[in-house]
Amino acid sequence: MIKEIKCEEDQLVVSWSKGGCSAYPYIWLKDIDPLDFHPQTNERMFDLTQCDLNITPADVVLDAEQVSLQWPDQKVRSVYPVKLLAMYANSGDREDPAQVKRQLWYRDFEVSRFASEQMDEDAVKEMLLRLKRDGLVIITGLDHEKSGEQFGDLIGFKRETNFGVMFEVINKAEPNNLAYTAVSLPLHTDLSNQELPPGYQFLHCVKNEAQGGESILADGFAIATDLQREQPAHFELLSTRKMPFRFHDKSCDIRFSHCVIGVKNGEVDQFIFNAHLAENVNGLQGGIVEYYRAYKALMTNIKQPKYALELKLQAGEMMIFDNKRVMHGRKSFDPTTGDRHLRGYYIDHTEVDSKIRMLS
Ligand code: OGA
Ligand code: ZN
Repeated sequence: MIKEIKCEEDQLVVSWSKGGCSAYPYIWLKDIDPLDFHPQTNERMFDLTQCDLNITPADVVLDAEQVSLQWPDQKVRSVYPVKLLAMYANSGDREDPAQVKRQLWYRDFEVSRFASEQMDEDAVKEMLLRLKRDGLVIITGLDHEKSGEQFGDLIGFKRETNFGVMFEVINKAEPNNLAYTAVSLPLHTDLSNQELPPGYQFLHCVKNEAQGGESILADGFAIATDLQREQPAHFELLSTRKMPFRFHDKSCDIRFSHCVIGVKNGEVDQFIFNAHLAENVNGLQGGIVEYYRAYKALMTNIKQPKYALELKLQAGEMMIFDNKRVMHGRKSFDPTTGDRHLRGYYIDHTEVDSKIRMLS
């Protein structure tokens, strides 16, 4: 609740009964005026170009539940519920249930498992929060070939790529991707050659009867955070210089460049690594050898056993992992000893965040 309000020259200062104050500049209050949102779509209708940046309310009144303001250009008073102001009380950042603190992990990490037959709304929310915290979960009990695919409908839209909406990871006669062979796949994130690499990857194991084919996973955020502490100059280069990536086959040629490590507010917030889609590094001048030094150091670290979690997916299990954080790979398998079939798809980060908010 609000204890008192004070109208300063260019902002409204609110003192909260539980202690502390928040300052709301008038132009910001004008911009979030509930009267200026479409009543059905909730979309902003306010036109900033028509507003004086020094706008000041003619009058402000506080009652228990709301603050009402009389703007000079409006006949009707604008009402700001206390709840609305409280939502932005901490330096203007709205609280977000989809904001989850990440926990870094290493080889001995125990992956959370969720039984598909017990997925009520609470369990879906719990699973998604865990996915955001760890970047990796396993779903069990998906025994039919289509049940992994259907599971995604509990969350949101699948993301289509040049490999389709669903992709079948099997040993193919004419592969256009190393995943569609029986060879080992070193740790990587998928589709680094895309402008927006997909957010989460879902890999449903239909059959895994061949010898070999174990999955390897590693937390790219743990690797990058260790690099930041131990080899800061390398970290700096990998988080500022872009790496070009390319995928091409008979029907497409898709290229994009990303920094291998993304940073937000001083913390690692994106990890995009795919040595088999890496293009020739461009810019022959300008510290290219230094870049190779940093890139090689990172690649060497990625190979360190302390990061690698190994598991063999069983039929009916599906792993879900953050494709911009957790690297995945697999050991080679011998297709003469049995069948191996995974079915994959992607769902983007914003879909998962939206689902968490809707369930909260
Ligand atoms: C993939 C992939 C791993 C596997 O399809 O992107 O990396 O275990 N597959 O086959
Ligand atoms: Zn992959």
